[in-house]
Formats: sequence, C-alpha cells, structure tokens
Amino acid sequence: MNQEIEAIKNQALSAIDQATSLDELKEVKIAHVGDRSPIARANQGLAQAPTDQRAELGKLIGTARSTINQRFEARERFLIAERDSRVLQEEKVDVTLPTARKPKGALHPLTILSNEISDLFVGLGYTVQEGPELEASWLNFDALNIPADHPARTMQDTFFIEPVDSGLVMRTHTSPVQARTMLENEPPIYVICPGRTYRADELDATHTPVFNQVEGLVVDKGITMAHLKGTLDHFAAKIFGPDVTTRIRPSFFPFTEPSAEVDFFYNGRWIEWGGCGMVNPKVLQACGIDSKIYSGFAFGMGLERTLMVRHGISDMHDIVEGDVRFSRQFGLGAR
Ligand code: PHE
Repeated sequence: MNQEIEAIKNQALSAIDQATSLDELKEVKIAHVGDRSPIARANQGLAQAPTDQRAELGKLIGTARSTINQRFEARERFLIAERDSRVLQEEKVDVTLPTARKPKGALHPLTILSNEISDLFVGLGYTVQEGPELEASWLNFDALNIPADHPARTMQDTFFIEPVDSGLVMRTHTSPVQARTMLENEPPIYVICPGRTYRADELDATHTPVFNQVEGLVVDKGITMAHLKGTLDHFAAKIFGPDVTTRIRPSFFPFTEPSAEVDFFYNGRWIEWGGCGMVNPKVLQACGIDSKIYSGFAFGMGLERTLMVRHGISDMHDIVEGDVRFSRQFGLGAR
C-alpha cells in the first residue's frame, strides 16, 4: 500500500512538473489533484482499510496529498508569473516610437496662385480687399453701370437667389468689390481683390460654374492707361516669366471707359487673360468719387485660366475635383 501511494504521488508530481502552460496544468489538476484523482480515491478508500492500519495509512495519504497540492500550487504560481511577464512583454507600448502619421494635405494650387498674386501687389503698395460671394444685385450690376437689360443679367449667366425679388445674386465677377471699396474709402485707392465667382455654366474641360477671379483697382490723381499697361506688364512678367508682355485690344465693359481685353504673349502665342480699362467716370460718381479730380484703372482675370496656362493643365476637372494628389504636385507654397 505504501508503495502504491508513493507511485501515485510520484506520478502526480512528475505530471505537475511537466505541465508547461496553465492549460496543461488544468488537465493535470483534473487527473492528479482533483476529486477523481488517484490520491483522492485512495483517501476515499480509507474507510475500507483495516482499522489498525487506518491511522498510519491516513497520515501517509494526507502527507502525499499535501505534497501534491503544494507542488501544484508552486507550479501554478510559476506558470502564472511566466504568462504575466510574457503578456507584458508582448503588449509593451513604446511611447517614444513615431506615430502612424496622417498624410500631409496641400494648399490648392489656386490658393497658392492667389496668394502669389496678392503678395506681388502688396509689394507694389496695394492692399488685399475681399467681398462677399453672395452679393447685392445692385453692387454686382447697377453700381457698375450694367443696365437692367444687359444680357449678363439673364438667367443663363447669373445665379439668382430666391425669392426672385431678394435682390441677391452669386457674384458673377469680382468687380462689385470695386464698388464696395470706392464706397467705403477715399482715394488714393490701390487694391487687389481675389475671390470666388459664379456663372451658370456647365462643368467641362474649360468651364466651371464656380471659378476665381482677381480684380485690381487703382483710383488716384492723374492715373492714365499707361499706368494700367505698365501694371499689367509687371503682373504678367511676375506670374509667367520675365520675358512675358501683354497687349490690350479695344473692347467694351459698362464699368470701364475706354475698355480693353488684355492678352499675354506666352510660348509663341497671344493668350486671352482678362478685361481691363479706365474706371468709367459714371461709376466713380455713383460711388461718391469726384471724377473731375480722380481717375482710375481696373482689371480682372480668371485664376483658373492663369493656372492652366502656366502649368499646362488641360482639364478643368483636375482643378475642381480637389484630389490632394493633384494639389501636392504644386508644393505647399509659392513657386
Ligand atoms: N469683370 C469683368 C469680367 O468678369 C472683367 C473686368 C474687370 C473688366 C475690371 C474691366 C475691368 O469679365
């Protein structure tokens, strides 16, 4: 009997020692430590043992059982500690590692161009002036001497704001900023006004219903068309390259008199750039400026067209879609 107990104990101890994980140890517990294990059964069998041997046998079994239990607990503590330190190791977070960085965005090339133009005119002593995109119809048209029956006022060109008598439109050009500036400031006036403008066009390779213009306005004593031409040449040279010059062709705008189209010579050909002219004295008067003392010039051009020519962009969609991969090609700042 003694040997039997000894064998049971040794089997249990070696099974415990061989368990290399908590899962394995759980199996070992059921087989060698729990209520149905050989040692537990031996204990239960004590009742059947002859009375004179019972005490000694009981002691023997009890000692074996506690040896098994102690070995089991020690093994369990060891395996728990081992597991804990492994988990700590595996789940360690190095707070000094660089994070998964978000990809950088980029300024839209139109923004870069607009900033570049503003900077260049600020360098000439101009200030940057902005106006609202949702504009009073009278500032977009009437104050600029655009008559009530002018074709630009028709539904095809202008986004009118409901109700029809709201008197509001999405501005069709940046020229209302001219009127706002003259109404609010005394000459001398030297302003550059970049901004978003709207016309009821379909989006295609060369048109977009939401586009950008930049408006220039100068009102001072003794301003002539020569100042306008010199300013346009400087502007073109700064934007397109030192050899680029401009030409002006007679044209008509209700708010300038005389009026002209301005083209620039680029890569061997003349390219239309925008409109310009001497501020119509009627407009000066409507804005509270004495046209006998002051004269002025104004110009306005499209930024999309300027960008497309300068960078050889052939499809307007690339400009309006806002894909950062397109924008990133232009870098983050001025060229
Ligand atoms: N506002 C005109 C346009 O959108 C351009 C322009 C601006 C013409 C200033 C003359 C003077 O076509």
